[in-house]
Amino acid sequence: MNALLQEVERASGAQEVVDLLHDGVEHYSWVGIYLVEGDELVLGPWKGPQATEHVRIPVGQGVCGAAAASGETEIVDDVNADPRYLACFPSTRSEIVVPIAHKGRVVGEIDIDSDRPAAFGPDDRAFLERVAELLAPHCAA
Ligand code: SME
Repeated sequence: MNALLQEVERASGAQEVVDLLHDGVEHYSWVGIYLVEGDELVLGPWKGPQATEHVRIPVGQGVCGAAAASGETEIVDDVNADPRYLACFPSTRSEIVVPIAHKGRVVGEIDIDSDRPAAFGPDDRAFLERVAELLAPHCAA
């Protein structure tokens, strides 16, 4: 993922980063960025086969809202076994949500759904936490 990280470093905005992640990693089926607005997460740039109906998620709800509330990365190996999970796509089997922090505050998050069970491991986490650091200036209001 080092070559992809270099491309992300050169990207000029959040939509380009989303496109690079989606197109660059086979098990990243749907990639989106949510931005914190007050006590809600609002969907920003995304790329995937379908739009999600979850364009606004209250902080604290769903896997996305949990990661925003705690500031910690969430990895869900089996979305159907997690009672917090808000379903978007019938094909999704696992999910990772990585908070984007700026100056000690969560300003957004990267949300990735995979059609593969338990698709996300320590390498995805380390890579995406670095991507989140690069995205922070783009997401801070
Ligand atoms: N599954 C998320 C909702 C967002 S969609 O995956 C795009 C959740 O449980 O918060």
